Amino acid sequence: MIKAVRGTRDLLPPDTALWNFVENKAREVFARYNYQEIRTPVFESTELFERGVGEETDIVSKEMFTWEDKARAASEKSLSLTLRPENTAGVVRAYIEHNLEKSGLLQKLYYLGPQFRRERPQKGRYRQFYQIGAEIIGPPSAGSELPIRDAEVLDMLVALLDAVGLTGWTLFLNSVGCSNCRPAYNQALREALAAVKDQMCADCRRRAETNPLRVLDCKVVEDQPIIEALPKIADYLDEPCREHFAQVKAMLDELGVPYQVNERMVRGLDYYTRTTFEFTHGELGAQSAVLGGGRFDGLSEELGGPRAPGIGFAIGEDRLVLALQAQQKKAESALQALIVPLGKEMNRHALKLAKELREAGVAVDVSDESFRLKKSFETAEKLGATYAVLVGENEMASGEFAVKNLESGEQTKVARAGLLKYLSADGI
Ligand code: HAM
Repeated sequence: MIKAVRGTRDLLPPDTALWNFVENKAREVFARYNYQEIRTPVFESTELFERGVGEETDIVSKEMFTWEDKARAASEKSLSLTLRPENTAGVVRAYIEHNLEKSGLLQKLYYLGPQFRRERPQKGRYRQFYQIGAEIIGPPSAGSELPIRDAEVLDMLVALLDAVGLTGWTLFLNSVGCSNCRPAYNQALREALAAVKDQMCADCRRRAETNPLRVLDCKVVEDQPIIEALPKIADYLDEPCREHFAQVKAMLDELGVPYQVNERMVRGLDYYTRTTFEFTHGELGAQSAVLGGGRFDGLSEELGGPRAPGIGFAIGEDRLVLALQAQQKKAESALQALIVPLGKEMNRHALKLAKELREAGVAVDVSDESFRLKKSFETAEKLGATYAVLVGENEMASGEFAVKNLESGEQTKVARAGLLKYLSADGI
């Protein structure tokens, strides 16, 4: 049987209805904020991403689908081509190629479509995935650099998430400075890294020299305490960047957009300057970023174009749909937990625990000894329960229950006395 390639998937009805709903809502919101659609090619010359996104990023160094398009005739040169891993570089290329700065106005452009990255597939992470994104770009004389644009983009994102009905998101915000203040920060990072890089992974050791900012993207668990102790970018922002960020925050406060400043969030693409942001959602597990974006004030010039500051974002549509589906399932089910007896002897204990919890007002269900652990977790998920509580001999002996959060996948031990509070605290 020929199957879809690893990391790709078919979107089938009824799910496609939700995809269409999301896309229609996005188009409506974009129209309200005066954005128009742009469609760029699905593949571009490799150089665009190397120069735009940056050669030391994970995306360019590890994840691109690149091939050599061989010359057919002696007069033609062979070309290295790449399936787009993101759309910002393509939009800025198009802005330059079609002289869009000519109008003197801000260009407010949105796009919907597939992107490609060779990442390790898992829930919420695919090799072909879909983004809904937008960029504001234009000459500085059109106000493209001003903090009002940043605040407007974030305000629109809140409106968009509201329109599709997503709740429970968190907005993380940071400023990564500009070409004026970044060198001092890079230098501070290099110096701090010189003393510790030998204890870090091979990527970090290399990046400590070539592009120290990218060390902050490292996901290797052992490297995290070292990274935590590195200098913070906020301490190196120059006065204009500091003032810009202060104004963005003040406008968000005025608009009532809640955010948390996260000084470690530098985002995994080299073009960012000043404001960067990510919205995360608790239903998404490890791949929790539902969207990301920021300013790219130097990108046009990096690609050989005119000075054209800009800011934009891309929503991971796959993740947005997953989060909405999880939210819907949760809304349909009031079930907090499935109590799982591990073996026949445990049935009575499980039933007793269920009784206590039910009496205290918590909705729970009980499985039985015929369920193996994996099947119990699957059943709990199908039932829409938030937790599975394991009742086995060890639990009875120690008085502590293993409780698995089915959304995050995390498992913790909770003492019997604290169980009621633990299960009912969710979602409040
Ligand atoms: P990004 O953070 O690389 O930014 O991707 C944006 C969003 O796309 C992520 O937050 C995530 O939801 C989704 N995404 C990324 N990779 C995958 C994957 N393998 N599977 C599923 N979803 C994924 C950019 O792409 C920038 N171009 C955003 C931007 C626009 N910045 C300024 N303008």
